[in-house]
Amino acid sequence: MTASRHLAIVGGGIMGLGIAWRCAEAGMRVSLYERGTLGREASWAAAGMLAPFAETEFYEDELLAYGRAGQERWPKFTADLESTTGLSIGYDQTGSLLVAADRDEAEALRRVFEYQAGIGLPTSWLSSAEAIEREPLLSPRIVAAVHSPHDHQVDNRATVDALAAAARLEGAELHENSEVNAVSIANGQVTGLDVQGEPIPATDVLIAGGAWSRQIDGLPTRAPIRPVKGQMMAFRTDPALRLSHVIRSQDAYFAPKADRWVLGATSEDRGFDRRVTAGGLYQLLDAAQEIVPAILELEVLDTWAGFRPASRDNGPILGGCDTNGLWFCTGHYRNGIQQAPISIEAVSNTILGRPTVAEATPFSLARFKR
Ligand code: GLY
Repeated sequence: MTASRHLAIVGGGIMGLGIAWRCAEAGMRVSLYERGTLGREASWAAAGMLAPFAETEFYEDELLAYGRAGQERWPKFTADLESTTGLSIGYDQTGSLLVAADRDEAEALRRVFEYQAGIGLPTSWLSSAEAIEREPLLSPRIVAAVHSPHDHQVDNRATVDALAAAARLEGAELHENSEVNAVSIANGQVTGLDVQGEPIPATDVLIAGGAWSRQIDGLPTRAPIRPVKGQMMAFRTDPALRLSHVIRSQDAYFAPKADRWVLGATSEDRGFDRRVTAGGLYQLLDAAQEIVPAILELEVLDTWAGFRPASRDNGPILGGCDTNGLWFCTGHYRNGIQQAPISIEAVSNTILGRPTVAEATPFSLARFKR
């Protein structure tokens, strides 16, 4: 049954590549079409923070449950991917520090901490001195911090490269510079794709186009997704300056990687505007130097902007719809890297007719019709 199906995937980011890997491994024929270069949009722009606890807003309980279930899958996902490919993806369990730069931020942080403690999250409140003892590069002016030991990180760029390698090893065909114009549907059943004028017959189509997921003709329902721009910077690491946690304040975060520190991110509703602006970088540096003043001594390696695919309620869009063979895995907003293992598993299972992942059920496309 699986062997007679052909899954055509729109989008070569972390979701499309991960589902290509899993479905090809299960015996499906898989062809993936990426409009640019594999893994070079939001999956590349991200900081790789695995932080369901640090990034969840008040009362997003279903999303938090989904994020927690996703977090639990990271160790096995890493082991599977690294053993399949022999590549390291830099999964690191050192935890995060949420830092309050001033008294107002401390009050907001206290509310976050109390909410998290109330739902049983294993976080701890630190005085300024306790936080600096853990992380000596923090500014002596910070007021307090929360330690989130279960917020981890990964090298998102290494992860997408490893997923592409794993998908190819399982026989998936991955096409770059191949823009999908339209999905074709007949009598309520997907029949294939139009890729730059060439018809590609398929029994199944997966929309994993991130912020571009609406821009495909022929879809019976367009997912309510918009791009939310994030500007970011990277710095060359200096052996004399070490950070051993992801550090986050209200206005900035640092993700220390093996060879660079990543600083993010602005959050801007400007459509697909890729410009990196002086104002954006100023905003990041100003917020960053308040919590880690040493940042001003580091060499800038790179700056970039990416587009978070934000759905109307911040939750992902997963699984099927009224059209047979049409599947979605998109709309992960700020949480795409963190939720990748669970979303890849949930949507692959649905496509393959395997048991559903319970935590994914609130996130169907149909919820936006209600
Ligand atoms: N998850 C980090 C960001 O969206 O900036």
